[in-house]
Amino acid sequence: MTTAHIQRIAVIGAGTMGNGIAQVSATSGFQTILIDISAEALARAKETIRQSVEKLHSKGKLDDAARANALTQMISGTDMALAADADLIIEAATENKPLKLKLFADLDALAKPSAILASNTSSISITSLAAATKRPSHVIGFHFMNPVPLMPLVEMIRGYDTSEATVTAALAVCRALGKTPLEANDSPGFIANRILMPMINEAIFCLMEGVGTAEAIDGVMKLGMNHPMGPLTLADFVGLDVCLAILEVLHSELGDDKYRPCPLLRKMVAAGHYGRKTGRGFYSYTS
Ligand code: CAA
Repeated sequence: MTTAHIQRIAVIGAGTMGNGIAQVSATSGFQTILIDISAEALARAKETIRQSVEKLHSKGKLDDAARANALTQMISGTDMALAADADLIIEAATENKPLKLKLFADLDALAKPSAILASNTSSISITSLAAATKRPSHVIGFHFMNPVPLMPLVEMIRGYDTSEATVTAALAVCRALGKTPLEANDSPGFIANRILMPMINEAIFCLMEGVGTAEAIDGVMKLGMNHPMGPLTLADFVGLDVCLAILEVLHSELGDDKYRPCPLLRKMVAAGHYGRKTGRGFYSYTS
């Protein structure tokens, strides 16, 4: 199922979030264009999507048509101009404000006037991204959760000038992707990370201060609170670099020391231990 106004979706960035968004877009029947400056990243993304689609199909969670769509409805490339015909462009690049501001200005220049520009940012102001364009009414936050093919939520964030028509179209696309949109206002970290990151940060303080081992901290939250993953496992999963970047935004923009990133988190990021993606974080993933 697609929506009347939005048939073609371009996704900028082929990392974990970008490839998940492109997968869900294609399997839901949208013409999908996955764009990344790195051909290697695109090749890795296509393999990740292939494996994920096969797994979901083998479990009966995707039907034959959706599985076929993953191949027939998706193209990829390194040229940003491929997004020129898209009705909706979802930016899922690295969580870096100057980079995203430049991307939004560039996308605004090449996208068709009616196109909606969305960002998957987990904490950067949608209003400031919109202000980098000449179409702030057509800019919105589309915050997916990792792993995108499995997680039902999309946090939907209105910028200061986002129009009702843009919100209505975005809500319809979300539902057509099989997701549940929930609205948040444009405030640092929105809802998800305003709540999640302080919990993860506190778990890292507990580890640093010797309140418990990593296994005990995660075990308490899994067995005691029914969380599917403990906070340190989840931090490794999200990426410690991403957690630090989000905490920096919360700390600097809300100005409250309760968001101060734990020194152990800073040290691990400085050491290059970002979690699963580098093979080492609070746990080892090499074997
Ligand atoms: N595609 C298809 N299948 C996938 C998959 C994917 N992308 N990722 C995992 N799976 C499969 C696994 O292969 C596994 O399959 P089998 O049962 O056949 O082995 C199955 O899903 C279940 O996975 P696991 O057994 O590894 O673990 P699980 O039962 O704990 O489920 C999980 C995995 C759904 C990720 C669950 O642990 C979970 O919900 N964790 C919390 C995730 C979360 O909090 N996400 C939000 C992070 S915050 C964020 O994204 C936003 C931000 O801004 C930081």
